[in-house]
Amino acid sequence: MNSLSFTETDATESAARAQDHVDDTRLQRAIADLAAFGARDDGGVSRQTLTAIDLEARRHLIEHARALGCEVGIDACANLFFRRAGLDDTLPPVLTGSHADTQPVGGKLDGAYGVMAGLEVIAALNDAGLRTRRAIEVVAWTNEEGSRFGPGCMGSSAFVEPARLTAFRTATDGDGVRFGDALDAALAAVPDVPQLPMARAMASCVELHIEQGPVLERANVPLGVVTGIQSVRWFRVTCMGQMAHAGTTPMDERADAMASAVALAQRLYAYAAAEAATQLRLTLGRWLVAPNSVNTIPGSVTFTIDARCVDEAVLDRFELALQTAIADVRGLRATRNDITVESLFRQAPTHFPADMRALVETGCTRALRQVGHDQPVRLTSGAFHDAMYLAGHCPTAMIFVPSRGGISHNAAEYTDAPALLLGAQALAYTVTALANG
Ligand code: GLV
Ligand code: MN
Ligand code: MN
Repeated sequence: MNSLSFTETDATESAARAQDHVDDTRLQRAIADLAAFGARDDGGVSRQTLTAIDLEARRHLIEHARALGCEVGIDACANLFFRRAGLDDTLPPVLTGSHADTQPVGGKLDGAYGVMAGLEVIAALNDAGLRTRRAIEVVAWTNEEGSRFGPGCMGSSAFVEPARLTAFRTATDGDGVRFGDALDAALAAVPDVPQLPMARAMASCVELHIEQGPVLERANVPLGVVTGIQSVRWFRVTCMGQMAHAGTTPMDERADAMASAVALAQRLYAYAAAEAATQLRLTLGRWLVAPNSVNTIPGSVTFTIDARCVDEAVLDRFELALQTAIADVRGLRATRNDITVESLFRQAPTHFPADMRALVETGCTRALRQVGHDQPVRLTSGAFHDAMYLAGHCPTAMIFVPSRGGISHNAAEYTDAPALLLGAQALAYTVTALANG
């Protein structure tokens, strides 16, 4: 046998050995060490993308990966790649990882778990003395959350389609900072890290993540094979009015932007309630009121809409309902001023390929059987993930572990250590098998 060719059995045995070398204590410590960057008093983490604390966390990740023997690289969207060499480095690598940025109030695990578990896979392979045919790269994508600069998944979507970066660079945060300037500062902060091209060929990609919903906890099964990701659309609605004195302007002579916004919001919530059977999910998450003064009638109100469903036709119907609701509200005398709506982001549902799901299922099942469980649950992701974009670039899969109470985007986000270990074990199996394929 040529030293670079592998049989099924070699690949399976190496995958099992890698899985068995995942270390619980080391994984927990790595998660805790990253969570120290942006740690909050309530146990959560605040580390929005490309903030000073995020840049410190990136430096920590670089040192951590180098200590494991990885080569570190960065691309034009400041995505960080930690590479463990393969036996044949002319082959495209296997990619794992997730994102290290958080929501304004986030937990220790959303994104960070996938990055640290990816680095734990590398530590386990080192401990097991295993080389893989292909290189393995662990990535920390830039700005998955989309909370500081919209849209989300900037790093992964620009990686697969670099032309997106030009428009992303002009996005501004709430303080008027441009994403492009924050990006340049992040790149300048790591002069010791070589630049990598975007859109590099990848053999495959596996992202491990907390579920962020209630399905696995309710099923009492600690691992899930993700079959796909539901579709999502984001909009920004702006309701215009006229600022005027709160005490002197008669109610029937006002153009109150808040009255328009509230009337519209009520119609949208009523529509979502009527569509409950379709599992449409609606969030009106960010509100800006001008001038935001107790005694001035609002001159403008802007709010965001996040609408999601596994069935895209439901979102098409929602968009029509949004137009109808706007027309209705325009017709109200008390809210006679204009309403505009912009589309910020739209993504069709993602379906992960069957062979990738089958491999993840094998890795999950082997890990689960060692702790007395039978099979992982198959489920669709309610949250979007960087894997959504990678799925258009190379064969991609995801693994989920449970979230206590289904809670995330919250300081209380929590997954118990045994489930975190199982997820990293399933990841080690899957990534090692792929890297020997
Ligand atoms: C990602 O954080 C999402 O909003 O789904
Ligand atoms: Mn995430
Ligand atoms: Mn998130």
